[in-house]
Amino acid sequence: MDNLLHKAYDPDQFRKEGHKLVEQLANYLENAMSGKTEKVIDWKEPDDLYEKWKDYIDKDVSSQQFFKDLIEQSIQLHNPRYMGHQVAVPLPVTALASMAGSLLNNGMAIYEMGPVASVLEKWIISHFAGLIGNKDSDGYLTSGGTLATLTALLSARQAMLKNDVWENGQEEKLAIMVSEQAHYSVDKAARIMGLGSQGVIKVPVDEEFKMQTDQLEPLFKRAENDGLKVIALVANGCSTSTGTYDDLAAISKFCDSKNIWFHLDAAHGGGVIYSPKYKHLLNGIEKADSVIIDLHKMLMGPALSTLVLFKNSDDSYKTFSQKAQYLWENEQDKEWYNYAKRTLECTKLMMSIRFYAIIQAYGIEIFNEYVTRQYDLAREFAKLIQMKSDFELATEPMSNIVCFRYAPQNVADLNELNGRIRKKSLENGDYYIVQTALNGDIYLRVTLMNPFTETTHLKSLLEEITKIAGKIE
Ligand SMILES: Cc1ncc(COP(=O)(O)O)c(C=O)c1O
Repeated sequence: MDNLLHKAYDPDQFRKEGHKLVEQLANYLENAMSGKTEKVIDWKEPDDLYEKWKDYIDKDVSSQQFFKDLIEQSIQLHNPRYMGHQVAVPLPVTALASMAGSLLNNGMAIYEMGPVASVLEKWIISHFAGLIGNKDSDGYLTSGGTLATLTALLSARQAMLKNDVWENGQEEKLAIMVSEQAHYSVDKAARIMGLGSQGVIKVPVDEEFKMQTDQLEPLFKRAENDGLKVIALVANGCSTSTGTYDDLAAISKFCDSKNIWFHLDAAHGGGVIYSPKYKHLLNGIEKADSVIIDLHKMLMGPALSTLVLFKNSDDSYKTFSQKAQYLWENEQDKEWYNYAKRTLECTKLMMSIRFYAIIQAYGIEIFNEYVTRQYDLAREFAKLIQMKSDFELATEPMSNIVCFRYAPQNVADLNELNGRIRKKSLENGDYYIVQTALNGDIYLRVTLMNPFTETTHLKSLLEEITKIAGKIE
């Protein structure tokens, strides 16, 4: 046993294996980015793939072979023909930072368990506070948009009620208002908080999939008549399905008039804060009581890390009041550096080092270059679609998300056709696109995440779709 432990921790072994893995990953990058690797995804049904891997452990393969198989059978985000879900195509430097973080494994719950990562987290928070224009904002990083939404809404509840919910439990029937296009994590958070389905008031959207702000007043009144206390309104910046930005200025005005919490879900669309060309889409962000931005979507970081920013610094400390004498001495003190006081996590990944590593290596200009390019490309793609009579755009893109469908004349069931196109394209694996339902209809959905996707790839995608459709009976 002792020998095995020595072997497993052997620095020389790590050096050798590490060099080999970096070589393999660099080859993966080269092949994927150049499109030399033909398949973006080598699609297998889950049970078939499990069958392939379930006895893998019994094979006598080297770690090198294991990593080779892993790479080849994983979805290849770095291939320019990857245009699917909104997961970042991570910058290589973030992989290096992740590796350092994994080995150092500074737990982050409290300052002394992750000193550098803790102060860099504070740096990142002030950096975003400055970008948004509220230099007194405060917050933290947490593990993903879903958790970030839950934490922000818990803070909203604590801030909006006279009753200390943390101490006394929930007495009133509470509700939040949310765009019907909101990500399902908002609904999930509300239900975790005990609001139930009645407590999630869905605000309808217009033909551009924007929240209909003229519906806010009547919906709010109806909720009051139903005995609900509305505590918060969640806006999209931007929405998941269509990438639509809500009218934040109007929403903030409404929240002020009703004295309710304004939460902005900028998990995907928050990156435009870096783009002089597109940052107007977030006009009003500075009014939000809380904002979340995923660093693992439009900011090129690996999963997961999400920024949660509160306009009022105190709000970021009110959510939990946890007695953990072995971690901190005074539960009343803010202690910005003991992050577990404010996050749901205790042990936490060293998320800050991955984002910081990007800025340290390339400066913040890289975010503008990336976001502006991807948003421009989506607009070009929309034009290509509009030029083709057999295709239909769901709505003009506001971000890098484009929804469209193949809609030739004389097809009885466009939903069935587009569903089958998407399934076949997944099986082919030459492109990775997804689908979504809009007003009950199936649309193909592309999120232009890859910084090397060009117009030529998009033209070929439309050709491929036409070809697939031609083969469908
Ligand atoms: C707008 C929006 N909010 C929240 C989330 C959830 O984020 P995460 O996947 O990091 O939990 C997503 C994910 O796609 C999203 O698009």
